[in-house]
Amino acid sequence: MHMHKYEKIWLIFGTAALLFFLTVLGVSAFYMGNQPPSCLATVDPAKVTEEKPFSEPGLHKVEGEEWDYELVFVASAFVYNPGHIEVPKGAKVKIIATTTDVIHGFAVAGTNINMMLEPGYISEYVATFNKAGEFLVLCNEYCGTGHHLMNSRIEVVE
Ligand code: CUA
Repeated sequence: MHMHKYEKIWLIFGTAALLFFLTVLGVSAFYMGNQPPSCLATVDPAKVTEEKPFSEPGLHKVEGEEWDYELVFVASAFVYNPGHIEVPKGAKVKIIATTTDVIHGFAVAGTNINMMLEPGYISEYVATFNKAGEFLVLCNEYCGTGHHLMNSRIEVVE
């Protein structure tokens, strides 16, 4: 079979690019541990507000963990609890969130924090806020008529 020279080059380029990106993906996922926020932890969605840590939403100082604080959020149509929270600048914070009703999003504008909150599952993400200021938390999963009103604020203070 005769193949044009440019076609050969293009095929080699395509295959090499595919192998390159699969390698990058593999190294990132298995060597550097970049995996989606865990959905391994579960909670009964009907009893979220009665169970720890969701019975006390907000910021809690913790000892003996890799992070300094745990920031607990409970989402429901169409609010986050807490609606506003202050976080000390530079602190390592583990965000722990879930929802009591439908799927909500949890995206913090201007950061890498972007989680899906699913009923029955606990979403977690460890982040350090190195920049002072106010960060808007937004719901980026359509959840009903009040979806566009759903927000919270994380204020990073010195
Ligand atoms: Cu909650 Cu959209």
